[in-house]
Amino acid sequence: MSLWVVRGGSALSGTVSVQGSKNAALPILAAALLVEEPIELLNVPVIRDTENMLKILRSLGCTVKREGTALIVDSRTATGFTLPTALSGELRSSIFLLGSVLARFHAADAPYPGGCEIGNRPIDLHLNGLKRLHARIEESGGRIRCTGDDLKGAAVDLGYPSVGATENIMLAACRADGTTTIRNAACEPEIVDLQQFLCACGFCVQGAGTPTVVIEGVKKGHGASYRVMPDRIVTGTYLLLGAITGGDVTVTDTQPETVDTLLSRLSECGCLVTVHGDSVRVRSSGRPRAVGFTETRPYPGFPTDLQPQLFALLSVADGTSVLTENVFENRFRHAQELKKMGAQNRILDRTAIITGVERLHGAEVTAHDLRGGAALALAGLAAEGDTRIRHAERIERGYERMDSVINALGGSITRKEESIGEEKERRRTGELPV
Ligand code: UD1
Repeated sequence: MSLWVVRGGSALSGTVSVQGSKNAALPILAAALLVEEPIELLNVPVIRDTENMLKILRSLGCTVKREGTALIVDSRTATGFTLPTALSGELRSSIFLLGSVLARFHAADAPYPGGCEIGNRPIDLHLNGLKRLHARIEESGGRIRCTGDDLKGAAVDLGYPSVGATENIMLAACRADGTTTIRNAACEPEIVDLQQFLCACGFCVQGAGTPTVVIEGVKKGHGASYRVMPDRIVTGTYLLLGAITGGDVTVTDTQPETVDTLLSRLSECGCLVTVHGDSVRVRSSGRPRAVGFTETRPYPGFPTDLQPQLFALLSVADGTSVLTENVFENRFRHAQELKKMGAQNRILDRTAIITGVERLHGAEVTAHDLRGGAALALAGLAAEGDTRIRHAERIERGYERMDSVINALGGSITRKEESIGEEKERRRTGELPV
């Protein structure tokens, strides 16, 4: 378990070149299985989630060479279609592999991903979509077994624009016979990135970024070199860092248009926001102002993955803000942790009412999930004194060297490893609640 000690009180300033997108890299790595030639990927973030995806690809027989953020994945050697239980349990997005493994091997056997920290996260839309493509699916003993010698293109209507289901169906449809049309598809920029990668490999996909994605099945793709898009959630997190610490942060090598809902919130809060080409600068102009109402929605709405970090900012804003979470049903666990730091908030079902306080104070808090953990790091940097974030390894799932990035901007995060034994001892001595 990682423990981060965050020292608050400094205004963070400087420039950060943003990492590649986790949520684009993961389905693209799954797509590597569709192509029986080596593929080169650039800008793949070095984070726990991509490391776990690579371990799964290796366990299926792929050869992977990595040099920093550049990768070569060769799936010619892949033979397996059974996803390893422990690794897949750690990485929910291994579910994307169902579509690509099925398309490649005509069979896929995966553990059921189950719930997670931010909600139930069912996969009915993924499975119904695959069934529409003529896959046969059996669910028993916590596993999903799919078979399909003759996947066929079909019309798939998603009841909800699920990002993962859209991507999974796109992957399965690439090598199916005929045309697949996904209606009510998710429109997230990562889906456009997946389409661009698939097209670079010779597959025929169009419409990503709109609610209708059309895939013409092709027998086989070919190798390609592709650069993964910048991470819009990490971009947003570092911009919020500038805002919450009263600093001046510029994020470069990004796609500013993918964070425009956040930029308008930052302007409403009184920050000075400047966009120049592929960089965005946020300068704080003093204590942020509260914002009236924000609700998370599928793209182009305000992203659920930035809700916890915005929550942290509003916790120190002047006035009362209202934040509604529409995408996941259990994504306010950071609210309780922020209260330990002196924040004032009330949760009514899916809505948080946040009354900003002038100053948070350091406390012992727990990162329950990736983005909630990032929100605690932001709050800790704005607080008086030291904040100890337990289970910070959850933050490391998605942020590349976040502690070093923040320290380079003038913040202070010290990272320690804490063993289960040490944690138990601290509970025994009353330092931590039982
Ligand atoms: C992806 C992102 C995640 C982001 C989310 C929403 C990746 C690796 N993860 O997750 O960071 O927070 O999009 O932008 O890209 N749902 C169902 N049935 C399904 C699938 C989803 O009911 O079969 C529901 C979910 O429970 C949730 C909602 O749909 O309430 C959105 O989920 P979805 O868009 O699928 O998110 P993910 O793809 O899991």
